[in-house]
Amino acid sequence: MAFQITKAVIPVAGLGTRFLPATKAMPKEMLPVVDKPAIQYVVEEAVAAGLSDVLMVTGRNKTALENHFDRVGELEEVLRKKGELDKLEKVKHATDLADVHYVRQGDPKGLGHAVLRAKMHVGREPFAVLLGDDIIDERDTLLTRMLAVQGERNTTVVALLEVDPSQAHLYGIATVEPTDEDDLVRITGLVEKPAFGSAPSNLAIIGRYVLRPEIFEILEHTEPGKGGEIQLTDALQELATGPDWGGGVYGVVFRGRRYDTGDRLDYLKAIVQLASDRDDLGPDFRPWLKEFAATLTIDDHEHPDAP
Ligand code: UTP
Repeated sequence: MAFQITKAVIPVAGLGTRFLPATKAMPKEMLPVVDKPAIQYVVEEAVAAGLSDVLMVTGRNKTALENHFDRVGELEEVLRKKGELDKLEKVKHATDLADVHYVRQGDPKGLGHAVLRAKMHVGREPFAVLLGDDIIDERDTLLTRMLAVQGERNTTVVALLEVDPSQAHLYGIATVEPTDEDDLVRITGLVEKPAFGSAPSNLAIIGRYVLRPEIFEILEHTEPGKGGEIQLTDALQELATGPDWGGGVYGVVFRGRRYDTGDRLDYLKAIVQLASDRDDLGPDFRPWLKEFAATLTIDDHEHPDAP
C-alpha cells in the first residue's frame, strides 16, 4: 500500500526583495490577495490535499505569520460581543485550519537550504513542499495529482509549467521525456535560471514538489549554485541524473491557474482574477473593471509579447 503523505513544508524565509519596501518589515507571504494573505491560500491548498501537518520555514519576520495562524482572543471576544459571527468565523478559520509548526532558517541561504531545515520534522517520510508565495487556484487540483503520482511510482514529483521562452531564464528549467500518462513526464535534467536564450526547454519548475527523504542527504552536500544560494533545483538535478538514488524525478505539467504573488505584476493579476471570480465581490467588481479596461490605451511598444 502507498504511504499516506501528511506533511507539508512551506518555506517563507526569503527576503522578498522584488516587493520592497512592502516586505521590509513583513514577509511577502503575508501580502493580502483580496482579503486573505497569500500564505493562507497555500495552507488551504495543502489541507485540501490531505496535508494538515504544516511546517513553515521562517525568517526574521516570523511574528506576523505566527500571529496569523494563532488565536487572537481579544479580537474574537470583540466580534462575539458585537454578534459579528461571520467575521469571527473568518478569524478562527485560519487558526483551526492545520497543525502549524515553525522552524527558523537562520540565514536565507536559498530554497534548498530552507528545505533542509525541515529534516528533523519530516523524518524518513515523503513530504510535500509548497512555496508560500505561489498560489494555485483552488479549482485546479495540482497537488492531489502530484501526491497520486508519488504514491503510484514512489518517486520524486515536481510541478512544471510551460512558460514563454523569454521568461525561461527566471526559472528552474527541465529537460524531459514523455511517459504513458497525459501531462506526466520523466525529467532527465534540470538547470536553475539558465542564461537568457540558452534554456533547454520552456518547462519551468513552479512552487510545488513532492519529495522523498533522500533529498535531505543530497542537500547536505549541495554546494551553493546560482546567486550563491543552495538551490533545490541542483539537488533535484542530482536525483534525476545520479545513479544511486532510484525512483528518478517526474514532472506533472500544470495547465491551470497559477499566480506568483512574489512578483508585482503577477500579484496584481492574482487580485484582479480572484476578485472577479468571487461571489461577494465579482458582481460589483466586474462591471467596474470592464468600464475601466475600456478606458485603457495600449501602445504597440508596450510589452508586445505579454498575453
Ligand atoms: P524566491 O526566490 O521567490 O524568494 O524564493 P525571495 O528570495 O524571497 O524573492 P526575491 O527574489 O528576493 O523577491 C521562493 C520561495 O522560497 C523561500 C521564499 O520565501 C519563497 O517562498 N525562500 C527562498 C526561503 O524560505 N529561504 C531562502 O533562503 C530563499
